[in-house]
Amino acid sequence: MTNSGKAYYLTTPIYYVNDAPHIGHAYTTVAGDVMTRWHRMAGEDVWFLTGTDEHGQKVLRSADSNHVTPQVWADKLVEDAWIPVLKTIDAANDDFIRTTQPRHVERVQKFLSGLRDTGFIVEGAYEGPYCVGCEEFKLSGDLIENESGEQLCPIHSKPVETVSETNWFFQLSRFTDRLIAHYEANPQAIRPESAYNEVMSFLRCGLQDLSISRSTFDWGIEVPWDTAQVVYVWFDALLNYATAVGLGDDPDSDGGKKFAHTWPADVHLVGKDILRFHAVIWPAMLMAAELPLPGCVFAHGWLLVGGEKMSKSKLTGISASSIVDLVGSDAFRYYFMRAIVFGQDGSFSWEDLVARYTSELANGLGNLASRVQAMVGKYFEGSLPTPGAYLPADVALQELLVSTARTADTAVRQFEFQTGIVAVKEFIDAVNLYVTEQQPWVVAKDESQQERLSTILYTICESLRAIAVMYAPIMPKSMEQMWNEIGATESGLSMSYSQVAAWGQLKPGVAITKGESMFPRIEEPVEI
Ligand code: MSP
Repeated sequence: MTNSGKAYYLTTPIYYVNDAPHIGHAYTTVAGDVMTRWHRMAGEDVWFLTGTDEHGQKVLRSADSNHVTPQVWADKLVEDAWIPVLKTIDAANDDFIRTTQPRHVERVQKFLSGLRDTGFIVEGAYEGPYCVGCEEFKLSGDLIENESGEQLCPIHSKPVETVSETNWFFQLSRFTDRLIAHYEANPQAIRPESAYNEVMSFLRCGLQDLSISRSTFDWGIEVPWDTAQVVYVWFDALLNYATAVGLGDDPDSDGGKKFAHTWPADVHLVGKDILRFHAVIWPAMLMAAELPLPGCVFAHGWLLVGGEKMSKSKLTGISASSIVDLVGSDAFRYYFMRAIVFGQDGSFSWEDLVARYTSELANGLGNLASRVQAMVGKYFEGSLPTPGAYLPADVALQELLVSTARTADTAVRQFEFQTGIVAVKEFIDAVNLYVTEQQPWVVAKDESQQERLSTILYTICESLRAIAVMYAPIMPKSMEQMWNEIGATESGLSMSYSQVAAWGQLKPGVAITKGESMFPRIEEPVEI
């Protein structure tokens, strides 16, 4: 929940433009999109930010090997790949920040100068291992050794490089105790619990100062008082969450007002690989600048291929469109939120995707909708009948809806997407069972049972109305279609979660129509 007057502000990581996105990136964005749509549907003011991280050696090297400047490379990747994937997965972000935009560059420089003025940035010498894949200065305890004795980054399985430079340092070590105290007082600020524990044990080992500039390449934001150096890419990137909403602007300006309305962020959604940057360096930067800290860093697990983190560099990346082309964006979103416990690792498999699509979406929900649409068409000429007296079986569904809506809302707000979806799915199963038990096609044969038939069909349509609301953040396109087909728009309703379980909202007499199948059968042979 948000403070009154402040938007619910959620961010995804900003993604490196060294390569095109794969479903690992799309996974984070979908989770953020589901969560922000959920809050929006409850009538809350919401701000959802995503974007791209364009500076640093990793992007520079990709551009070099493609023989173009890094700016040309970044522009191309953003335009051809990173913006289009948002459409592919149907993300409704409010803003898209690029770290090469002037709004970001200027505010980063101002922030940096402020920290130098207050004595948190000092000159120093750095020597140590660096992983360009992670863009991270490593501690020797972080590394693994291969057979020939080389030190490797455990995430990228590639040798680290040695950096030896005179740089500007952020005095991170001054914040160890304050960070520990902050997290002891606010354990929900890092989730899930495993992530909290990881950060706390890291903090208890003590922090070292952090080199925040580089002098051996120039693809980055210039350090304002030392133009021979560029800002370390993570220091630049983390600030995007605040620069995008007006960090440091005059309070009376548009940027200043935006900042007051959104900051601090309620949630930074990240993969567990970048937890420490977000839960250690970022809050320390904010503390140094005397800014409020984000409500929560949520670190989700990895999508695995062959037991390892899916990645383009290991050639295990699967594009979102290869899945969306087969099952559509709604089923893509549903699958990842449904099949994997958010916060834990999970393996993607085509077989599992197709199996769940077929049983839960095409057969479970799609069939239910098309059956009732067909029956209202056949028995009532497509006009929603007026329900008569409710019997215990009808009331049982109405009561189940109340508890389902409550369970789903609590779960999703806690990032327990799977629990929320399963609750709704169980409601769908109960409605399907109701259809089987009530046998409306048998009731229809008895003229004297017209009222009972009306009640049964009305009950099913009302159930679909509620399902459309509860599933809309997960499957926006098909749920909007279903909403229209069962006459919710014609009934003058708008999708609102607060009213979802109130029974009897569809107006008898509205048209029940049947359009294209929401979840058509998958015809193509799937290569597994
Ligand atoms: N640019 C940094 C983040 C800066 S945020 C201030 C970065 N970028 S990234 O392109 O590598 O994307 C990282 C994020 O993408 C991960 O934190 C995670 O959210 C998502 N994922 C990338 N690969 C993934 C998987 N295989 N599985 C799940 N999520 C993955 O790090």
